Amino acid sequence: MKIKIAIIGTGYVGLTTGACFAYLGHKVICVDKDKKKIVKLRKGKVPIYEPGLNEILKKHKKNIEFSVNIGNAVKKSDVIFICVGTPPEKDGSINLDQFKESVRDIAQSLDCYKVVVNKSTVPVGTGDWTKKEIIKYYSGKFSIVSNPEFLRESSAVKDFLEPDRIVIGLEEERPKEIMLDIYSSINTPKIITDIKSAELIKYTANAFLATKISFINEIANICEKAGGDVKKVAEGIGLDKRIGPKFLDAGIGYGGSCFPKDVDGLIKIADRKKYNFKLLKAVSAVNIIQQRNFLKKIKNILKKIDGNTICVWGLAFKPNTDDVRKSSAVEITKQLQKLNFKIQAYDPVAMENAKKELLKKNIRFCKNPYEAARNADVLALLTDWPEFSEINMKKIVDIMRYPYFLDGRNQFDPNELKSIGFYYEGIGRK
Ligand code: UGA
Repeated sequence: MKIKIAIIGTGYVGLTTGACFAYLGHKVICVDKDKKKIVKLRKGKVPIYEPGLNEILKKHKKNIEFSVNIGNAVKKSDVIFICVGTPPEKDGSINLDQFKESVRDIAQSLDCYKVVVNKSTVPVGTGDWTKKEIIKYYSGKFSIVSNPEFLRESSAVKDFLEPDRIVIGLEEERPKEIMLDIYSSINTPKIITDIKSAELIKYTANAFLATKISFINEIANICEKAGGDVKKVAEGIGLDKRIGPKFLDAGIGYGGSCFPKDVDGLIKIADRKKYNFKLLKAVSAVNIIQQRNFLKKIKNILKKIDGNTICVWGLAFKPNTDDVRKSSAVEITKQLQKLNFKIQAYDPVAMENAKKELLKKNIRFCKNPYEAARNADVLALLTDWPEFSEINMKKIVDIMRYPYFLDGRNQFDPNELKSIGFYYEGIGRK
């Protein structure tokens, strides 16, 4: 069944959700306060780099419109999805300003029964607040649903259309059928639960995945001290179905707009309930240490050879995205700039965004990975872009001043690089 849907917020989650609902045949209005963004979207220009999104928006444009008018979008829709950002405050707590503003805007435009669905990541209990807030402005019937999103940047469309599960948190029967209708053509387990559990599922999933990463990073550190190869250890434990092979790649620590924020957010949520979430505090601390360890490795080598030029490959927080928010790659590069080393950086798509985050000094942005490596004393791979695997490494070893390769993502085979003359150091590998 075709459903009329309004999407509030056109960030990664909002735009992907809107595009995918249009693809599923629903009638979608995507709303954003940012007029420039809406003008661009109407012209078919997608403001983010996300594989497949452009194509889907183009192909299904008859099912999707873009607007700055939230009131009108709410009136024309049966279901309203809130997909606005919930950024972190300095102390790790969540800033709900945009979310609250959206709820008030929606409440003031409700004119008959509608379902208000929240997809933004919000602290447990926000559903209760939403209900109370809407009642202040609107006396008719409505339902609140929590429908957290688990899509990843760089595979957002695929994650949305082929999810491992869909979580639907609700307090009454009425919106259940509508929600199941919306997702009827997606064949995956649908978990129906209460709103608070749904809100917690989102934080718990991200916190658990971050825990896996910090855990394997600690094992990598033990491998460096005691011997062993963390990649083999991860493979050996990952085949145990109870553990699973994913999110066991050791590296320079997790980044992005979600894991750091949601780990700190859950710690804060627990603190407010007077619960000391010790394990998660350690997860966050280990992540910071992991970045520092890698920085130390670079500094040690430069000291040994009395060098000062570092080639940096990769600035995005992970491959296939131009997003540099809380990127470990950017954080490490910034520290190197502060230490007055000379950086020659290359990233396939994230350089423009990285320029805004990095210092203005001690850096040259290069057109290709070869230019970045020329005359460098150390090459630090910070984001595992697949295109780095295609590079002619024999050429790289020839154009560098010293052949030091520090692999922050364990992307390369140590033996291969050693055989062509590199000194190779990865994370947790001999
Ligand atoms: C993450 C979750 O994976 C999504 O399920 C969730 O919907 C999303 O946050 C969100 O809350 O919106 P995302 O931030 O796009 O998605 O990126 P991930 O692919 O999860 O990677 C996060 C970070 O962990 C990256 O810096 C990545 O390099 C790092 N990572 C990942 C590792 O260091 N090791 C691994 O094994 C996996």
